[in-house]
Amino acid sequence: MGTQWYKDRVFYQIWPRSFADGNGDGIGDLYGVYEKLDYLKSLGIGGIWFSPLYQSPQTDYGYDISDYRAIAPEYGDLDIFKKVVDKAHALDIKIVMDLVVNHTSDEHEWFVKSRDKNSPYRDYYFWRKGKRPGCPPNNWDSFFENEAWGYDETTDEYYLHLFNRKQVDLNMDNPAVRQEVKDILKFWLDMGVDGFREDVITMISKPEGLPDDHLVPFFKGIRMYSSGPHIHEYLQEFRTEVLDNYDCFVIGEAPLVSIKQAKEYMGGDHPDLDMMFNFQHMNADCMFTEYMPRPFNLRKLKRAFTKWQKKLDWNALYLENHDHPRIISRYGSETYHDESGKMLAACYLLLKGTPFVYQGQEIGMTNIALPSIDDYKDCMAIKNYNNDIKKKPVEEVLPKIQKATRDNARTPVQWSKDAYGGFSTTQPWFAVNENYTTINVASQEQDPDSLLNFYRKLIAFRTKSPVVRYGSYRELCPHNKHLYVYEREYEGEGLLVVCSFTDKPCTYHLPKKVREGNIKVLFSNYNCDDLEPTLTTKPYEVRVYQY
Ligand code: GLC
Ligand code: CA
Repeated sequence: MGTQWYKDRVFYQIWPRSFADGNGDGIGDLYGVYEKLDYLKSLGIGGIWFSPLYQSPQTDYGYDISDYRAIAPEYGDLDIFKKVVDKAHALDIKIVMDLVVNHTSDEHEWFVKSRDKNSPYRDYYFWRKGKRPGCPPNNWDSFFENEAWGYDETTDEYYLHLFNRKQVDLNMDNPAVRQEVKDILKFWLDMGVDGFREDVITMISKPEGLPDDHLVPFFKGIRMYSSGPHIHEYLQEFRTEVLDNYDCFVIGEAPLVSIKQAKEYMGGDHPDLDMMFNFQHMNADCMFTEYMPRPFNLRKLKRAFTKWQKKLDWNALYLENHDHPRIISRYGSETYHDESGKMLAACYLLLKGTPFVYQGQEIGMTNIALPSIDDYKDCMAIKNYNNDIKKKPVEEVLPKIQKATRDNARTPVQWSKDAYGGFSTTQPWFAVNENYTTINVASQEQDPDSLLNFYRKLIAFRTKSPVVRYGSYRELCPHNKHLYVYEREYEGEGLLVVCSFTDKPCTYHLPKKVREGNIKVLFSNYNCDDLEPTLTTKPYEVRVYQY
C-alpha cells in the first residue's frame, strides 16, 4: 500500500469541455488546462480529477468511450496530456483519471466487432435474445432512456445499456474484459497518472441470468446489479494484479451504497477502494435524483453528513460535480451569493476526509435557465423532458428540467468579464451564464474578501491543520432546522463550525467549553470576530471558532 497521500490533499475536478479553451475553437481542452495549472496551485490544490478525456462520440460527454488509449482530438493528444501531467507533478499536483468501464461507446471497436455473432468480442457485452418477438430480454430500466435494451436487426438480438443506447454495458464476467481493464489501468499508470475515479463502479457485476425485477416501480434492475455478485472479487483482481504495483489510489463512484456496504469496499488492509463518493448528502432537496424535487431539508443534510462522518474513518467530501446542479442554487441562496457560498465552503471543507472542489465552485457559479429544451445538451434532461411533456404542459415541464439538469454544472467556467466569460475567444460550445460579468475569477482575484479567496484560506488552513486531518467529529443541536453546528477536536485543540442555512436570524449559545476556552474566530463570512457567548446569526452566516 502507498503512503495515503490522498488524505493530505484537496482535489479539483475538471470537466474538460467547459474548463478552459486554449486553442480558440470554443471547446475546453488540455492546452487550456496547462495554462491554468498555476491558478490551481495558487488555490492550494494537490490533485486533479479529470472527467473523461478519452476519444468519444460525446453522447454523454466522454462517459461513452470509443478508445481508452487516445485523447479526444478536441481536447488535445497524448503529447499535451503528458505535458500537463509533467507540469502538474512539478507543482506537486497529482493526476486522477476517470475510469469508465461499466460500458463503452457503441463506436468502440470491441462493440463494432461484437455485432458479428461469431466474433470473440460478442461475449464482451450482454447480447441476448428477446423474451419473445418485440420484447426485450428483461424489464430493467435505463437511467437515460426508458428501457435498458437496444435492438440489433441484423442478428435479431438485444444488447444491455444501463445508460444511453450508445453506452453499452460490458460483460465483466468475461475474463478477457477484465484483462482489458487491467491493461488500460497499466497504460495510464505507466504514463504517470496517480489514480482513478471509477465511474459507477459498484454496478459492473450483473446478476447471473439477468432476471426481471418485479419488486420496484422505477429504477427496475438497479438493486440487482448494485454491488452485484462478483463485485469485490473483480475489484480485488484489479487491485492485486495492477494497482498494488503503483503508488496510486482509487475512488469509486457509489450511488445508493449503505454504510455497511461502504465498509465492505473500504475495510480491511487490502480494500477494494480507498475512498468512495456516496450520494446521500446530495438528496437533501430531492428523492434519489434532482428530478424528484422536495423542499430543502437541512436535517436531512445533517443526518447524511453526520452518519458518514461518524461511521467511516475517511470520506470523500464534495458538494458539486458534473452530475449535479450548482450548490449555491440548491442549498444556499443566489440572493446571498457570497455569504452562502462561503458558508457552504466552510461547512464541508472542515469535515474529516478528502475534499473535492468542482470547477467554478470556488467562485460560486450558479445554475442557468435556458429558454427551450433545444438549448440543453444533457441526455438525461432530454429523456426526462420527453417523458414529462407527454403528460404535462411545457410551463410545468421546463422549469423542472432547468432546476434539475446536469447542464447547470456544465456551463463554461467564468474566468473574467471579457466576452464569453474569458473561457474562449469564440462562441463556446454551450451557453455561458449571463452572470459572468459579476461572477468571475479575475474580479474575485482582486478582492481579498472574495469567495475565491475564502476557498484559498480554508484550503490552506485545512492542509496544515491536524484537527481537520485527524480530529474527532461531533454534531451539536442536531434537531435545529436552520443551523448546522459541529465540533472537531484533536489533542486539546478544537474547532466549532456554526453554519446558518437561512436568511432569518437564529440564536445559538456557544457551548461552555468553547466560551471558557482560549477562543478565537478563525473564519467568518461577515468579518465578525466578536466573541459574544450568544450568537444571533445573519443570513447564511458561518463562523468557525478555534478553542
Ligand atoms: C456517472 C458519471 C455520469 C455518467 C454516468 C454514466 O454517474 O458521473 O456523468 O453519465 O456515470 O457513465
Ligand atoms: Ca479548444
